[in-house]
Amino acid sequence: MSTVRVSDLIERAYDEVRPLNAQLELTYKCNLLCSFCYNAPKQLRELSGEQWIAALDKLQAAGVFTVTLTGGEPMCHREYFDIAQAVRDRALVLKTYTNGVLLADRETAERYAALAPFDTEISLHGADAATHDRLTGIGGSFDKLLIALGHLSDLGLKVTLKTPITRLNQAQLREIEQLGARLGYRVTFDTNITPTDDGDLSPLSLAADREFMVEFFVDQVRRGARGLNPRPVTKMKQNCGTGRVGLTIDPYGQIFPCVAWRRPVANILDIDDLAALWRGPNETLDYVRKVAEEVPQTTLVKHEEAAFASFCPAVAEKETGDPYAFYEAARVSGLTRLEAQRRLEGGKTALRKSQGCRGKDTGCALEDDGVKDR
Ligand SMILES: C[S@@+](CC[C@H](N)C(=O)[O-])C[C@H]1O[C@@H](n2cnc3c(N)ncnc32)[C@H](O)[C@@H]1O
Ligand code: SF4
Repeated sequence: MSTVRVSDLIERAYDEVRPLNAQLELTYKCNLLCSFCYNAPKQLRELSGEQWIAALDKLQAAGVFTVTLTGGEPMCHREYFDIAQAVRDRALVLKTYTNGVLLADRETAERYAALAPFDTEISLHGADAATHDRLTGIGGSFDKLLIALGHLSDLGLKVTLKTPITRLNQAQLREIEQLGARLGYRVTFDTNITPTDDGDLSPLSLAADREFMVEFFVDQVRRGARGLNPRPVTKMKQNCGTGRVGLTIDPYGQIFPCVAWRRPVANILDIDDLAALWRGPNETLDYVRKVAEEVPQTTLVKHEEAAFASFCPAVAEKETGDPYAFYEAARVSGLTRLEAQRRLEGGKTALRKSQGCRGKDTGCALEDDGVKDR
């Protein structure tokens, strides 16, 4: 019997430009106030539960099979559970990105577990209440998160903890990992702090400092946690899967080619056939795909450190106005890994072989180090 590997499916979806994953930002409401949050809410009416459920039918008809509910805080959508149940009723894979606070309530956690989510990614910003709560802006959020994690562990749910590395928590990464391990959960570190969706660069001021990041990468390789994964720039067909294998829909129904690139493709309420929209022609999709195809040979090939860089054309556009520009944060991400590689070579630590030029399941280039899936 022949088996189909997920990586082959993703490869085919890249070539055939079929959306496999949808990230639905159910609401921009949130019970926390993270100072670095990339969300940029507008004063518009958000989609109701009924409208999201109708959207799920369109996504399913277009071939989407993984639906990630995010936000804002997705559980702050009044009809979160109806929408999540509708995902499962359609036999789609359900994932949720959450800050975990509402799952501190045992009944809510049990109701959530009954949905049989495939994965739950929960943000953990520190190893202690002082650090976590400072980053979330709300006292008591760490304690609630710990209670929630205890419930989810009892209920046998798969949880991935996610920590964006900032100046404020960089000294605690080992303790954060240990905290996750005590609960039986893996922690993934996000090394990229991005601007807000409307281009405000202020979150970048919280990014971890450069020397720290070099040591972080060296440490990760030495411990076998991950490789530095240089990308084979000259052989790359695209920088990332923007406008190809995934899409993002904001609380107002606007469809975007990926979570970072906020160029609207259409509104989900206005279209009947998402697959036809995705096949095109469509000005936005054609443009972002072209940029993603051209970036390796125009931008990346010119910089030695680019093979190690997390390069996102959407962030380039937000930071400089030009999606092809090798912006400062990409340069620093490349240089820190390159420097880490040099130190490791000096110490003769073997590097793990490159795992290729694409992100994991969403095709996001910021995911290449196995950490980013915001
Ligand atoms: C916008 S939140 C939505 C889900 C949920 N409210 C939460 O915080 O997990 C999605 C993820 O993005 C991360 N995040 C928010 N702003 C960010 C930024 N500027 N740069 C990098 N990651 C960010 C959050 O920590 C979280 O892991
Ligand atoms: S990162 Fe998540 S929890 Fe924090 S403010 Fe943004 S949406 Fe809320």
